[in-house]
Amino acid sequence: DAVERGDYRHYMQKEIHEQPRAINDTLEARIGPHGVLPNIFGVGGDELLARARGVHIIACGTSYHAGLVAKYWIEEHARLPVSVEVASEFRYRDTVVPDGTLFVAISQSGETADTLAAMRESRRRGYLATLAICNVPESSVVREADLKLMTRAGPEIGVASTKAFTTQLAALALLCLTLAEQRGLDGARYADLCAQIAHLPRAIEDALKLEPQIVELATLFVPLEHALFLGRGAQFPVALEGSLKLKEISYIHAEAYPAGELKHGPLALVDESMPVVAVAPNGPLLDKLKSNLQEVRARGGRLIVFADATAPMDAGNANGTTLRIDGGGDFIAPAVFTVPLQLLAYHVAVLRGTDVDQPRNLAKSVTVE
Ligand code: G6P
Repeated sequence: DAVERGDYRHYMQKEIHEQPRAINDTLEARIGPHGVLPNIFGVGGDELLARARGVHIIACGTSYHAGLVAKYWIEEHARLPVSVEVASEFRYRDTVVPDGTLFVAISQSGETADTLAAMRESRRRGYLATLAICNVPESSVVREADLKLMTRAGPEIGVASTKAFTTQLAALALLCLTLAEQRGLDGARYADLCAQIAHLPRAIEDALKLEPQIVELATLFVPLEHALFLGRGAQFPVALEGSLKLKEISYIHAEAYPAGELKHGPLALVDESMPVVAVAPNGPLLDKLKSNLQEVRARGGRLIVFADATAPMDAGNANGTTLRIDGGGDFIAPAVFTVPLQLLAYHVAVLRGTDVDQPRNLAKSVTVE
């Protein structure tokens, strides 16, 4: 056990650091110098995907957050409508399935009861085809899907998912690129997105170098019981994932909001004892986020801002911290910004002395309803 963990104190820390390798493996032989290779989703996959007129994504937990990022990506670049739903709701809801809708199940284990049941239910609802994005080739979800793309994260032991999530994002980016190219995305933009994805392992390697700064930041959270995470656009699901990681392993109550919703409720909670973690995009929404953060600052809240290296952004006063990250481009930034949030949750949990790899009450794979 100690051997497998190598020099790392916990599997989770090891798995966080394995992400560049895991993503590299997931992209290997699937994307080349001219773009995504043909039929990486299985024989006849491209022909089926070309017929898709919409996408429904179903998953649980962290995998659900990967699906939410994919919604932003696919709608922007492939111009297809995407809906994302947790499997436990989908399976009991009377969904409307427009003609030509692709069903996508995302699961690390491929054995999550709700996800598997949702997939079986989808068979009765007239989808175009089912696609599994999964980390375990011999799993039930993979066996029962028409199309599949394996993430190659390798075994994930820590209950809190890390490398499975970022490899899911890599796989979903390949799906997005395939759908987008088929639907006539501008060639230069397609090449730019492909280059960004190819750079993702390196970008994550750079983000991992922030660990010493994050260890320092983690001390701030140790005595606290609540935290708020904010994001906008495709960084909103990253905020959700950051808050899930923190609650899962440190037992600090954390919530995530799209920053524009702050004024519709959570602002009432903000005072000096409520840290607010913001994942700042570098794009058209940056100014909007800044004005959201101004509201936090005005109420004495402690701001922790993860900002793109190129973004004109600062936590702005003595009561704030800004960490700079090279997001590697608008497309891959959600995957890159996930890493410091994983590290933050990890180090807060270590300092609080919890059982990081096996948090209380949780299971790695939930195979019962
Ligand atoms: C459990 C795990 C989570 C995981 C979720 C979905 O709740 O603790 O880490 O995200 O199941 O699992 P799956 O294997 O379907 O991705």
